Amino acid sequence: MKLLEGVEPLRRWREGLGDDVRVGVVPTMGFLHEGHLSLLQIARDHVGPSGQVMLTIFVNPTQFAAGEDLDRYPTDRDGDLEKARAAGADVVFIPATIDDLYPRGEGAWVDIAALSGGLCGRSRPTHFRGVATVVMKLWGLIRPDVGVFGEKDAQQLAVIRRMHAEFFLGGEVVGGPIVRESDGLAMSSRNAYLTPEDREEALRIPSFLREVRARFASGERAVEALLAGGAEAIAPGRLDYLEIVDAQTLEPVTEVTAPCVCAIAAHFGASRLLDNCSLAP
Ligand code: PAJ
Repeated sequence: MKLLEGVEPLRRWREGLGDDVRVGVVPTMGFLHEGHLSLLQIARDHVGPSGQVMLTIFVNPTQFAAGEDLDRYPTDRDGDLEKARAAGADVVFIPATIDDLYPRGEGAWVDIAALSGGLCGRSRPTHFRGVATVVMKLWGLIRPDVGVFGEKDAQQLAVIRRMHAEFFLGGEVVGGPIVRESDGLAMSSRNAYLTPEDREEALRIPSFLREVRARFASGERAVEALLAGGAEAIAPGRLDYLEIVDAQTLEPVTEVTAPCVCAIAAHFGASRLLDNCSLAP
């Protein structure tokens, strides 16, 4: 496995590769878990054994607002490299510094405004602008045939798909299913913030999503009825939002008549956790 530390080595690697070799990329902020590693496998399936699967690790400061967890975001560089190697990555890109990816500082943004204001965007109004901007930079440097992103972050995936389409980026965006712990909690680097008690209580999230799916399976289509009792079911976790939105537009619906996503964000202890499930009529 090759390690590229910095934009210059990345450029040289990309130029040396030529355009015949298929490249799949999995962007991450590190502190890898099975969810991240599952995306590497999806990338491999797309590029084949002779393709190159790249993992990128960068805790992107522009997607964190002041007061968020940028300073305490968990890292484990050596562990990550070992996991990436074991999972079959061919190459890992780690920017040498923040300036490496932001050589002129901040001030140039990719803003997918149509999809960035609702759901997480209400409490994190500059978050998706930071995400879209860094993914655009990576796409330009790496020119992948496929970029793989998790459905765990449904709004992020929608933003990236829209950016990819709007800016004619080439290659393909592929989504990977949510990987869960054996008890149902969606894997997340931020689960590391949970105390054992928080961790136990956080199971209320997947358990309420199972309830929503059960209601849906038994024929319920009205959003109010599908989500009834949500805040109580999550307590003592504190809801940031619990919504059913159209899967494409992320607009709230009152009735599930087209593919939708039931999306939830809730605070348990020091952690803000995200989860979702799709509802397809
Ligand atoms: P990060 O939170 O490290 O996640 C990296 C990728 O892994 C994202 O595409 C995310 O959706 C996916 N992922 C996380 N948990 C998952 C799970 N349990 N199952 C499946 N996939 C999962 O998302 C980011 O980093 C950043 O915003 C990034 C896209 C790298 C831009 O900075």
